[in-house]
Amino acid sequence: MFPIDKFDNLQTPFYYYDTDLLRATLQAINNEVARHENYVIHYAVKANANPKVLQIIREAGLGVDCVSGGEIERVIESGFQTDQIVFAGVGKNDWEIRLALDKNIFCFNVESAPELAIINELAAEKGQMARICLRINPDIDAHTHAHITTGSAENKFGIAMKDVQSVLEMAEQTAHIQLIGLHFHIGSQIVQMQDFVSLCARINMIQDELERRGIQIEVINVGGGLGVDYQTPDKQPIPDFRSYFNTYAENLQLRPHQQLHFELGRAVVAQCGSLITRVLYVKQGSTTQFVIVDAGMTDLIRPALYQASHKIENLTSSEPQAIYDVVGPICESSDIFAKTISLPRCHRGDLLAIRSAGAYGEIMANQYNCRSLPASFIKEEIDQ
Ligand code: LLP
Repeated sequence: MFPIDKFDNLQTPFYYYDTDLLRATLQAINNEVARHENYVIHYAVKANANPKVLQIIREAGLGVDCVSGGEIERVIESGFQTDQIVFAGVGKNDWEIRLALDKNIFCFNVESAPELAIINELAAEKGQMARICLRINPDIDAHTHAHITTGSAENKFGIAMKDVQSVLEMAEQTAHIQLIGLHFHIGSQIVQMQDFVSLCARINMIQDELERRGIQIEVINVGGGLGVDYQTPDKQPIPDFRSYFNTYAENLQLRPHQQLHFELGRAVVAQCGSLITRVLYVKQGSTTQFVIVDAGMTDLIRPALYQASHKIENLTSSEPQAIYDVVGPICESSDIFAKTISLPRCHRGDLLAIRSAGAYGEIMANQYNCRSLPASFIKEEIDQ
């Protein structure tokens, strides 16, 4: 599946995107969305903002979920329509709010009462109405890594359940604010549909209360979070979007006039990307055999930051298996991609693929140790 002979001439490490899989994934999403009325998908740009990847996502017709002014600028450069942009984030800067107002984005996902007041003030300066969804912290456990849980009471995100009524009333009475809906996002890499069922139950409860108070909204945005299979990425490379959307269709009491918006990131791009790296040295430590590769935590930080485990393949050896720790060259003990894994025996020069790295891989790369950022190639560039 990897064009290994073509990889030989390329400087490692680099990201490789299987754009056939990306297109097939987008097609699967569009096919499922077509089965439901009023479902709208925004791709969560934070997962991967590579312009070549963004272009393919734009061609598939998805909208976008941005969390910074930089992301808004990036997606506009990539040709997304501004009325397909939603803008979330607990700490929106004034310039970012002004930019979003100037571009007349679809809506702000507002995370606090003080933020609401500032958006109102800046919209008033421009004589505009700002469309907003209130982001509610539904206090639901997403059963995922603590660093990527966002909808529990102790998380910084969203408006606390106890404050929802007062902030809703404030939004309704604020002159330059147009309340269009509610926004939720409980976390990422969620693999149990039951967690989304719990979210639906909470939203149903809130909607009933809104109706009692005569508040009408058009949009329910349930964020993203659908997980992928990091252990066996080839088993089902396209996530089960049918079950995911059906979970909402079966459990959320959407009112007939309402749209249901989603912000999927990982499930769209994770499986199409791999980090390709070369073995520099094989070193026998006192207890462990290390494979030292030229990619490090600067190129893919997920294992170091979330103890994430990505499948690793040796693309150029078919020798008998041996047990290794696969580590990078960075001066940090956490610069480890995998511990005690079995790989075909490794030698200097072998190419390894670190799989399922299309989401939160390249975009989180950094230059610690004055390293260069990794390059990236899409399938059609390499195939030429
Ligand atoms: N919407 C909001 C408001 C979010 O905060 C996120 C992700 C998403 C949508 C997209 O979630 P997804 O569909 O990708 O699960 N860097 C971490 C993941 C951080 C997720 C942050 N928010 C990782 O590598 O696992």
